[in-house]
Amino acid sequence: MSGLPYFCEGEVVKGFGRGSKELGVPTANFPQEVVDKLPECVESGVYYGWANVDGGEVYKMVMSIGWNPYYNNTKKSMVDELITAIENDIQQSKDKLELPENQTFKSNNFFKDTDSKKD
Ligand SMILES: Cc1cc2nc3c(=O)[nH]c(=O)nc-3n(C[C@H](O)[C@H](O)[C@H](O)COP(=O)(O)O)c2cc1C
Repeated sequence: MSGLPYFCEGEVVKGFGRGSKELGVPTANFPQEVVDKLPECVESGVYYGWANVDGGEVYKMVMSIGWNPYYNNTKKSMVDELITAIENDIQQSKDKLELPENQTFKSNNFFKDTDSKKD
């Protein structure tokens, strides 16, 4: 897909709190400004990649970009289905990130907390 990999950074902000409570999948949320800057080619969907905090260890990550359609018009009794889907996304991401072409990004300078990156 063109436009990928895409690198972005921002503060971690509070989400709706459903990730931990209802889904058992704690999420870190980016503020709206970061989302607004996404290039158009990055469509709504689930993406895998790498993430770190303040130049620390780089971890595998999976990210949902979009509207959380599930929560707009679905009953709570179906939450199990979303949990299963997310767990499947997580497993697929873990596997894909093991591929050599994806491992290379883990050591990208972007993740280093160097002076040149500080403002
Ligand atoms: C890997 C992954 C897959 C997701 N897939 C969906 C989805 O298919 N449908 C949906 O409505 N939300 C999806 N979400 C978004 C979750 O609904 C959202 O992260 C959750 O509500 C937690 O948000 P909160 O921290 O703001 O409460 C996904 C999130 C992740 C991390």
